[in-house]
Amino acid sequence: MSEKTDSISIIIYASDPKDVPDELRSIADVVKFEPYDLEKMMDPPNPLPSAVACLPPGNEISTLELAQTLRMVLPDTPLFFLTTDKATYDKKKLIKNGFNNAFLLPWEKNDFGRALKAESLFTKIPELRDYCAVQVLDLHPGKELDFGLRAYLPLNGKLISVAQSGEPISESKLNKIKENSHNTLFVHKDDIDKFYQYTAARLTEIGREGDISETERKKRMESGVRELVSDMFIMDTKENTFGKSKALLEEMKNVIKLIVKNNNPDILSKLELMVNSESDFYSHLSNTSTYAALFGMALAVEKPEELALAGLLHDVGVTGLPLEAAQMNPEGLTPTLREAWEKHPKLSIDIARMKRMALSERVMKAIVQHHEKLDGSGFPDGLTHHKITSDARILAIADAFDDLTSLSPGRETLSPAQAMEELYRLNTNNPMQADLDIEILRRLRNVLNGGATS
Ligand SMILES: [Fe+2]
Ligand SMILES: [Fe+2]
Repeated sequence: MSEKTDSISIIIYASDPKDVPDELRSIADVVKFEPYDLEKMMDPPNPLPSAVACLPPGNEISTLELAQTLRMVLPDTPLFFLTTDKATYDKKKLIKNGFNNAFLLPWEKNDFGRALKAESLFTKIPELRDYCAVQVLDLHPGKELDFGLRAYLPLNGKLISVAQSGEPISESKLNKIKENSHNTLFVHKDDIDKFYQYTAARLTEIGREGDISETERKKRMESGVRELVSDMFIMDTKENTFGKSKALLEEMKNVIKLIVKNNNPDILSKLELMVNSESDFYSHLSNTSTYAALFGMALAVEKPEELALAGLLHDVGVTGLPLEAAQMNPEGLTPTLREAWEKHPKLSIDIARMKRMALSERVMKAIVQHHEKLDGSGFPDGLTHHKITSDARILAIADAFDDLTSLSPGRETLSPAQAMEELYRLNTNNPMQADLDIEILRRLRNVLNGGATS
């Protein structure tokens, strides 16, 4: 999928521009590298870039001075801090010092790319800053709205009105919105409380009092994963830091409970809402977690929340790998780096243990075995069929399902049913070499085609 946006330009400051990680060279349409030269930095660049990013400075200047200088010279230009070094990554402090945001590479490269795009979008459509994204799944025909709804059209860069305050939203309009694959609409931030009141009233009406809207669930899931994983980046073993990790995990467990609370959820519409998300590290964890839970529910496994927990943590071990091996996808890694990469399922458990997170045996097995293959060619232990738990097999399907349904440049996006069909096709072509459990795939494929699980 290609998207035409106005060109985004960026200046990246580094002590030695030669040290800039390669992946940043194509992060925007125009990327310029400049060394830290305080005198030169006092003159605003001409033309002004869409954004400025800084790699950790050397001895020439402190990070605080750097932020203050650039803020003074470029008061309206978004300012980002980029680092590959966990030790210099203190997001809160960096933002307090004057940066708009900070990103830890390579894990947060896509987040950085997205922040750049969002900033350029805000420059084009400043009113977008005043809007909050809400999920279409939370809207219902017939009920009068006391807030307006807008849709964003990327092709012409416009935010258009799809429903006015004071009007009910009709079924045909809602269907049209869904057909145009707008999973997300926008509500003005002054009206967002009204939107939450609307969803709460609706949930009560259908007997789900105390439940939360998809909009809120998605928001809490995404911000929870971010906080939990950034906390894991910090290898702090001081006793008083464990409480925080535990509290973050508890919050995630609460969000997960809400996914599985409703015994008979409309799995297909939930899946449709989630697919086509960005393919970055955090989204991968939160998506895999939700997919594993939904698949578990479709297959009527006991306590599908355990699957969600395993999905949430399955790849955090990647954060403990040497930088060159810290990839989501091992393609293109040298044999040595590949060997390191294959350690990530076990590392995920080690990190969770180090953070003193209490995980059940069942969750730990699913995490460690998520790359095992039925024919024994997987890793880390090369287990075969009956030795791999069914949770691990479901998790492996959720993992692969997210790879197929998240946005990836140059690849067509698949609907949930198409993605499941594709996984089924790939694994049944040569059943002797199937990576995934064909029987589970077959049952899930039936559910996604509107049938029963058996
Ligand atoms: Fe993995
Ligand atoms: Fe994964």
